[in-house]
Amino acid sequence: TSNTDYYRPVYHHTPLYGWMNDPNGMVYKDGEYHLYFQYNPYGSKWGNMHWGHSVSTDLIHWNHLKPAIARDTLGHIFSGSTVVDKNNTAGYGDNALIALYTSASDEHGQIQCMAYSTDDGRTYTKYEKNPVLLPFDGLKDFRDPKVFWYEPDKKWVMIVSADKEMRFYASQNLKDWEYMSAFGKGYGAQPNQFECPDFIQLPVDGDKNKMKWVMLVNINPGCMFGGSATEYFVGDFDGKEFTCDTKPETVKWLDYGKDHYAAVCISNTGERIISIPWMSNWQYANVTPIRQYRGANGLPRELSLYTKDGQIYVAADVVKEVEALRKDARSFDAVTVKGEHKIDELVPQTDGAYELEMDITPGTSGVAGFDLMNAKGEAAKIYLDMKAGRLVMDRTASGLVAFGEKSEPHAKETDDHRKTMSVNYQNDFALGTWAPLSLCEGKTYHLNVFVDKCSVEIFVDGGRIAMTNLVFPTEPYNTLRFYTEGGEAQVSNMKVYKLGL
Ligand code: FRU
Repeated sequence: TSNTDYYRPVYHHTPLYGWMNDPNGMVYKDGEYHLYFQYNPYGSKWGNMHWGHSVSTDLIHWNHLKPAIARDTLGHIFSGSTVVDKNNTAGYGDNALIALYTSASDEHGQIQCMAYSTDDGRTYTKYEKNPVLLPFDGLKDFRDPKVFWYEPDKKWVMIVSADKEMRFYASQNLKDWEYMSAFGKGYGAQPNQFECPDFIQLPVDGDKNKMKWVMLVNINPGCMFGGSATEYFVGDFDGKEFTCDTKPETVKWLDYGKDHYAAVCISNTGERIISIPWMSNWQYANVTPIRQYRGANGLPRELSLYTKDGQIYVAADVVKEVEALRKDARSFDAVTVKGEHKIDELVPQTDGAYELEMDITPGTSGVAGFDLMNAKGEAAKIYLDMKAGRLVMDRTASGLVAFGEKSEPHAKETDDHRKTMSVNYQNDFALGTWAPLSLCEGKTYHLNVFVDKCSVEIFVDGGRIAMTNLVFPTEPYNTLRFYTEGGEAQVSNMKVYKLGL
């Protein structure tokens, strides 16, 4: 590994060279998961957007293929989605892959275009009559079409982000689209701009007689800690219109970290609904301390619905396929932590790529947590703040953080979001993020924490809380320091797995 690639993750998907943002157009077909992504093949900053392409049979091992859709005279190829056209509605054959994406340029604006593939997603031919959809009101921000089959009406439905709302369209042939409705003005975190929608149906608490629709809305700005993040709305859909269960002010986050964005789901996976996020934040995505490539995707997560205090929430748990990454394992005896308890070597030569699993019972303590540390004293601090009822991850002293001063606040963003909501704000990178523990069940919290060179993903109680944050330690964290404040905590069932491909 060369010096410039010091932070390249071991088991997360990254481009070999060049820049990557949103995972998009993801689809499962004939045993392959296709991961297309916003890609600049010419450099490690955003620009020249293509659809990059990787494939996997297990969501973990990715093969890099040639970009599938290249920039053209209609502009950048922005985010979109791909469907399997099982019944040949578009006329390119049974099971052709049809991609709907946004072409973006100053000259033509943001318009929806179509391309088809008859070679299992390797190459796409652009539809000769593109675009297939223009905004009816000349809107500038009109992009990221997500298409799905709506069986009750036997029609395709497209959901497109349109500045501060999502618009629904219907089609029989994936080419002619008719406007149906819009949702979202005034809903969720403010200020915002809607991007990268998804729209999925899931059973509540596993009960298939109680299905709900979930609208994923990626917003930039609007993240409670500044910049970009993923929120969602739960409700009903009658084939035309979405009605949200909650009041406009209600905000539900799919992930409580600062580096979870543009999350959308893989099409055609049946009852399993799997999302993949991009692990960065538009505030500083272009200036992270990486050179040859830039951008990584978070681990795939399986989405489900659970009820807590009369509200329906989405749990985002890491997919079970990641267990195949587990190499060496080390188990630890249960401990009662009072004050401090240190584990000096997590697993020999983890090389910064491992999973921690444990149950924490904070008991009488006001704060119970641990620092993931290296010999230089750099630490990712993860703790339960029982007084505030929060899970916190504080990365102010996690390693390289100064680049966060160069972050680019969104024009629509207020300082409140960036400063008052986070824990210990120092700059847009050096801060702590938190999640409400009220989402969890009880007195013991089950944690799965995935560390991979420059990322930490925390899943609590099967994804009731997910928290994804980048960190740039100058050497791997290989020491764990548990501590409590004002009481005793139990740590049990603790394991560390070295992870590798
Ligand atoms: C979200 C986004 C999308 C757009 C793409 C451009 O991160 O801004 O709305 O399609 O990135 O690369």
